[in-house]
Amino acid sequence: MTGGVLQLNRFPEQWDKLKANPELVPNMVSEIIRYQTPLGHMRRTALEDIEFQGKHIKKGDRVVMWYISGNRDEEVIEEADKFKVDRENARRHVSFGFGIHRCMGNRVAEMQLRILWEEILNRFERVEVVGEPERVLSNFVLGYTSLPVILHAK
Ligand code: HEM
Repeated sequence: MTGGVLQLNRFPEQWDKLKANPELVPNMVSEIIRYQTPLGHMRRTALEDIEFQGKHIKKGDRVVMWYISGNRDEEVIEEADKFKVDRENARRHVSFGFGIHRCMGNRVAEMQLRILWEEILNRFERVEVVGEPERVLSNFVLGYTSLPVILHAK
């Protein structure tokens, strides 16, 4: 939620695009989740020896899957470091993980964010960031503990 507010302030042309076309909300929600990557990584333990992309992984090795890196992979995502509310294939990100442990709550998370942004657009002219964000001190949760804003009513 905070990441979305922040990016829409950093890139005001994206906010203008959203206001002109509120139907972009569901697409923007996926883009926020990609761009922010709320959980930076997960870890697995290899169950057997395996050769993967030129690397030898031994049984018992711990392997970290950096979602934040995958979400900036220029071979898959064009201009991956740009935040675009109308990005094509915005849902093609790895913020919810991949495979059998893929996030169980991904649709709930998307629904929460969709409703939040629909209601913000209904009620407010804009959400203005008026101070520096404070980050959660973690390399796992990529979130914020505080972000001062002013809500400008319609
Ligand atoms: C934007 C918000 C969210 C993000 C970025 C997120 C991300 C993730 C990630 C990365 C995993 C691990 C996937 C893996 O290990 O392969 C996960 C697992 C999980 N998430 Fe989420 N999540 C979010 C919201 C939620 C919500 C709202 C719920 C519940 C309502 C939820 C429930 C779960 C559960 C139960 C698992 C474990 C699935 C398993 O191990 O099989 N998540 N989530």
